Formats: sequence, C-alpha cells, structure tokens
Amino acid sequence: MFYFEGRTHRDAIVCLILIIIIWGILSLSIERPIQLLSSTKHSSSRDFFFSSLCGRLIRQDKTVLSVEIDRLDSELRRKQQLTYNDTYIAYDCSTKTIFPKYKITEEEKQYPIAFTILMYDNLFQFEQLLKTIYRPHNFYCIHIDLKTSHIIYKNVKIFTKCLKNVYLSPVRYNVTWGRYSVLEAEQECQQYLLKFPQWNYYLNLAGSDFPLKTNLELVQILKLLNNQNDVTSMPYGQLKQNQKKNNRQLQKIPPFRMIIYKGEFHVTLSRKFVEFVHSSSMVREYYLWLNNTYVPDEHFYSTINRLKQAPGHYTYDWDIEQYISRYKIWGDRPNKELCQGKYVRGICVFNWKDLWHVSTGPQLFVNKFSSDYDPIGLYCLEKYLQARIDDQTSITEEYYYKSLNTVKYSKHQS
Ligand SMILES: *[C@@H]1O[C@H](CO)[C@@H](O)[C@H](O)[C@H]1NC(C)=O
Ligand SMILES: *[C@@H]1O[C@H](CO)[C@@H](O)[C@H](O)[C@H]1NC(C)=O
Ligand SMILES: *[C@@H]1O[C@H](CO)[C@@H](O)[C@H](O)[C@H]1NC(C)=O
Repeated sequence: MFYFEGRTHRDAIVCLILIIIIWGILSLSIERPIQLLSSTKHSSSRDFFFSSLCGRLIRQDKTVLSVEIDRLDSELRRKQQLTYNDTYIAYDCSTKTIFPKYKITEEEKQYPIAFTILMYDNLFQFEQLLKTIYRPHNFYCIHIDLKTSHIIYKNVKIFTKCLKNVYLSPVRYNVTWGRYSVLEAEQECQQYLLKFPQWNYYLNLAGSDFPLKTNLELVQILKLLNNQNDVTSMPYGQLKQNQKKNNRQLQKIPPFRMIIYKGEFHVTLSRKFVEFVHSSSMVREYYLWLNNTYVPDEHFYSTINRLKQAPGHYTYDWDIEQYISRYKIWGDRPNKELCQGKYVRGICVFNWKDLWHVSTGPQLFVNKFSSDYDPIGLYCLEKYLQARIDDQTSITEEYYYKSLNTVKYSKHQS
C-alpha cells in the first residue's frame, strides 16, 4: 500500500516534469526569434523584436492593431512624397548626410564587394536600397535608364557625387525588358568595376531588390561560397512549351557549338569569373551572338557558368531551390500560396504580411518590394537589418551555405 502510494507520487512528479518540458518546447518553437536572442548579447535585436512594431510584425504578433499599421503606412507615404518633391539642388556634401554611418568591422573592410544597380524609377526606394548597402570601402556602379525622368537622374547624380566609390555610368541605355540593352548596361558597369582590384565578389541588383543580410553577413556568406558563382542554369528540354516557342536562340547556331542554358539574370559572381567574362574571346563571341535574341540576359551567365574553363563554374543543372542570390516567389511554383502581396508579371510583389517568411530566408536579397504598393515591408526590413548591424551579428547557418551543391562540387575538384 505504502509502496503503491509512493509510486503514484513519483509518477505525478515525472508527469509534471514532462508537461513542463513539452510546454517549454512548444512555447520556444512559437516564439523562436525571441528564444534565439534571449541567450545572446544581441540587445538591439532583442529590443527590435520586443518593442518595435516592425519586430512584432515579423513575429506575427496577434496584438498588433490595424490602427498602428495605418499610422505607420501614412507616415511613410508622406515621407516618400517629400522625397519626390525634394530636390537635392542645394545639397551640400559636407553638411547634409542622408547616409547613416554604419559600424564596419575589420572583417568587412578586408573583403570589399562590387555592385551594379540597374535603376529605372522610384527615387525613394533607390535611396533606401543604396543607403542600406552602402559602405565606403565597397564599389558601386549605377546605371540609370535612358527613359528615367531627368529630375531623378539629376538628383541621383548630385547625391552620389558625395559618396566615395559610387559611380554613375555616363553611358546610358534604353533598357527594355527581354532585350540586349539589359546586358549592355550591366556589362558597361562591370567593365568599370574591374578597374578596382580590391573586390572579391560581384552582385548585380535591380532597383526593386532589397538586402536580407547585413554587409557583415554578406561577407561571411560569400567567403563560404569558396569562389563559386551563384548562377541558375537549366537546359531547354525542361522549359515549358511557351517559353521554348519564343526563343530565337534555338533558330541561330551558337558559336563554338556552345550548349545554351537559361536561368536568372541576377547572380553572385566571383571576381575571377567576372575577369574571365571580360577576357575570354569565346565569351566575347557568345556575347555578340546574343544580340537580337530573346531575353539574352537570362542566357548569358547561365551558359557561361557551365563551361569548365570558367572560374567558379558548375557543370550540372541548377534550379531555383539552391539559388541564394534572391528570394522570389513565382506564381507557377508550389509555394505560390505564401505570397500575401500581389502577382505582377508572374512574380510576387510582397507586402508587410510576408515579412515573417521573407526575413528568415538564407537568400542575400529579396525581389521584390515596391514602396508605392507597400512602404512598411521595406521599412521593417531596413530596421531589422539596422538592429543586426548595431549588434554586429554573425551568420548562424554556415552549414546551409557549405552544403550548397556548387560549394561541395568545388571541394571535390580541388
Ligand atoms: C508634392 O508636390 C505635389 C505637386 O507637385 C503637391 O501636390 C504635394 O502636396 C506635395 N507634397 C508635399 C508633401 O509637399
Ligand atoms: C526606348 O525603347 C522603347 C521601345 O523599345 C521606345 O518606345 C522608347 O521610345 C525608347 N526611349 C528612348 C528614350 O529612346
Ligand atoms: C546589336 O545589333 C544592332 C542591330 O540590330 C546593332 O545596331 C548593334 O550595334 C549591335 N550591338 C552590338 C554590341 O554588336
């Protein structure tokens, strides 16, 4: 009898402990961002998650009121309107600083990055993008579309003059989607950037891109890529019929009997690869051959990155699952339901309701947000990055990048 009672007592305690453990695990998985932070010294990030509206939106906090969202939305729209109306004509580099002076670690200074930005419209969003990625030791080339209004061009010209290592391409193309001009504008910038021997990796950006990583995180990720490129590449056999039909590439014979592949234009390239692009006569001939073909920009890197002689190449098919340059959602993919924004030309334009999944991906940049459609999403990403810059947060997902097929491939080759 006594023995039986004791056992009941012990069972009850074990049961209680189990309940506490299960409760603990459940609550941790629900509040994961906070849990990740509570054991660290990351005070800015903790403040961000606990006390800011943006932190609460990313956490999908149910206590957020729609009046809070409306207030932030109209405040940001007012600011945006002011930027449009404001001209920088009286802009004085020595007194006015629209660009914050971010903390820069030694690790970042030792590892400069080069960027091309193909800009078309939305001065406010462009400023927000450049402000977020700008570090004086990196290199930037900006191409402004020939169609862009004169006032935008003038404004960008004035305020970039104050920024070290920011270059405005004097040669301007009429950049039309799907045309050679996309590639021409980018090549112009790339050639300029190659004059600087310091940088290690190259990224091409659109005005509608926004970073998901801080500059320090970007440096740490690029180092893990082991000089490999991030370039998607798929053979024509696997393209959908309607994509095939439009491809004039199939009606022209490529130089050197090259096999043509298709992928994303937005890429991450090692320096040696960019040097190869500008020094190889084979690439030169292929580049000229692409003139007057359909979407040449989506065939250029995808085909070159298959060549064994291209530094950082990868010889296998590469679809978007392993693509880290961009986080995008296409309307024809299984994850299309995730998009809380709207689809424009088959791509999700995100809004603040998407922050929880956009902000946690392994990708370097997101495409796309539009500050006209939703200013909150971009604002909150900017604030989230700012908190991590203040904390000098390092990446925690090294294993993910080390396990990318292209990185594993490079280790087998050497
Ligand atoms: C910006 O300019 C437009 C006219 O060009 C004007 O209607 C609007 O009130 C201005 N907005 C602000 C915030 O000054
Ligand atoms: C740019 O190209 C488009 C179509 O290709 C054309 O309609 C437009 O007039 C051109 N604009 C300029 C400034 O050349
Ligand atoms: C591309 O083709 C057009 C004619 O269609 C020509 O005017 C232009 O010079 C070509 N560009 C290059 C880089 O060869």
